Amino acid sequence: MTRNPWENENFVADSLESIDRKFLPGTAQEIEFIIRELGVSSGQSVLDLGCGAGRHSIELASLGIHVTGVDISPRMLDEARKRVKARNVEVDFVLQDLLFLEECFEGKTDIYDGAISICESGLGGLGWEKDLKILQATKALLRENARLILTTFNGIRKYRGERIFSKSFDFLNGTVQWNWHGKEKLSEIQKAYIPSEMKMLFEMAGFKKIEILGFNPGSFGRRALEPDDIEMMVIGTK
Ligand SMILES: C[S@@+](CC[C@H](N)C(=O)[O-])C[C@H]1O[C@@H](n2cnc3c(N)ncnc32)[C@H](O)[C@@H]1O
Repeated sequence: MTRNPWENENFVADSLESIDRKFLPGTAQEIEFIIRELGVSSGQSVLDLGCGAGRHSIELASLGIHVTGVDISPRMLDEARKRVKARNVEVDFVLQDLLFLEECFEGKTDIYDGAISICESGLGGLGWEKDLKILQATKALLRENARLILTTFNGIRKYRGERIFSKSFDFLNGTVQWNWHGKEKLSEIQKAYIPSEMKMLFEMAGFKKIEILGFNPGSFGRRALEPDDIEMMVIGTK
């Protein structure tokens, strides 16, 4: 089985630099939207799936929200702990592959008021059966009527235009291969779901009121998905 590239220190260091540069400035706007859509406030709890260096976890915690951040990368969580300390907030970080979310929470259920998974954080690289397992485990952890907000690649864009002929796009499986030529050569396979597949996956996991929206990083809002949007946002309610 291919190792998850997020377990490679050099890949993570490189990615973190680019996440900070591209996405950190827009985080405050994303948080405004997230708290409004999740309907959470001080004293409530949010699960941040694939939390990385805590970009969203830390901002939510600074609003008095109890946050659990789960990530597979020790390097990301080391950085997240440093940032938490610098901001003088508290976040509960858990080093874990999302695939083992249910086992990690030892079968606990109905404990979070909302969940987020922002920026291709765990789902998509594992195959749909595993993605479904993660969604089912997430749903179990949410309280009744709590919501999950997830952002992921928009498969429609991949199926349009010349990209369909690209060697890095497998149109039968809808997967994209990203190659990283840093200190080592690594590659990551990401499933670019089309909206109807994502809706079906959320339905299979038992989510209701599923919505698919378009967005740009740092500009989250309620707008329709455009075919050429790079990413899409999926919102589901337990
Ligand atoms: C692009 S980063 C985004 C981080 C953060 N959500 C943000 O928006 O800044 C993707 C994150 O997902 C984590 N990740 C990838 N696969 C994962 C898995 N199977 N289980 C847990 N975390 C995973 C990576 O370690 C990385 O921190």
